[in-house]
Amino acid sequence: MVYFIGAGPGDEELITVKGMKRLQVVDVVIYAGSLVSKKLLDYCKSDVEIYDSASMDFNQVIEVMQESHNKGKTLARLHTGDPSIYGTIKEQMDELDRRNIPYEIIPGVSSFLAAASRVKAEFTLPGVSQTVIITRLEGRTGKSEGGRLDELSKHRASMSIFLSIQDIEGVVEQLKVGYSEETPVAVVYKATWPDEKILRGTLKDIADKVKAENIDRFAQILVGDFLNSEYEMSKLYDACFTHMYRSGTK
Ligand SMILES: C[S@@+](CC[C@H](N)C(=O)[O-])C[C@H]1O[C@@H](n2cnc3c(N)ncnc32)[C@H](O)[C@@H]1O
Repeated sequence: MVYFIGAGPGDEELITVKGMKRLQVVDVVIYAGSLVSKKLLDYCKSDVEIYDSASMDFNQVIEVMQESHNKGKTLARLHTGDPSIYGTIKEQMDELDRRNIPYEIIPGVSSFLAAASRVKAEFTLPGVSQTVIITRLEGRTGKSEGGRLDELSKHRASMSIFLSIQDIEGVVEQLKVGYSEETPVAVVYKATWPDEKILRGTLKDIADKVKAENIDRFAQILVGDFLNSEYEMSKLYDACFTHMYRSGTK
């Protein structure tokens, strides 16, 4: 059995209870050493076999899974954040299906959620934005799969941009097509890690701030008025608003 486990953003307490319990009993772990905290491996039993996927290609990862399966061993594949977001699990799952190796996915706290918590923000503010766009600059994986940043910016939604901090100038240039220059931006480098850094600014000045701090990887770029805005009180807690669990007071 293979368990794809969301390791969370960094802090070893931000894995789910279910994910931690699986880690405590599996025989083999493959983890992304460059992005997943080694402290998570402390949850494992002492004779666990550990592989760092940073030095392995796809075939080598699958071979370890196949061998573990043949020997009746359980294996945890630890992915940073949540495996469903830029996790490349689909190709692994398809190969496991072809080989009749069973697997289960245990979700995790994605870094875009961790970043929002570190800047104490809510993506979905009434009257500001009820839509969250999760995206990245187009990279080696192909263009326009759902829209370039300049097109997406026209929605003026709350936005979380992964895998793009290395070209913050390119990001800003595209975002200025739809958002005003005053739109707030927060860059969260290594959210929830001990060496986390948080930069706040606007589309006008965030690129200079990022360059000054030499941040060129491992960061979330959060964009939108949700970061600093007037908003309407949520109707959910409005005394005039009734819903199925509460009757109105007026
Ligand atoms: C290959 S993707 C994996 C994303 C992961 N599956 C998730 O749900 O967060 C790696 C990118 O996620 C973002 N990332 C992952 N962990 C992060 C963290 N702790 N703080 C900020 N950004 C993070 C960065 O943009 C990084 O380049």
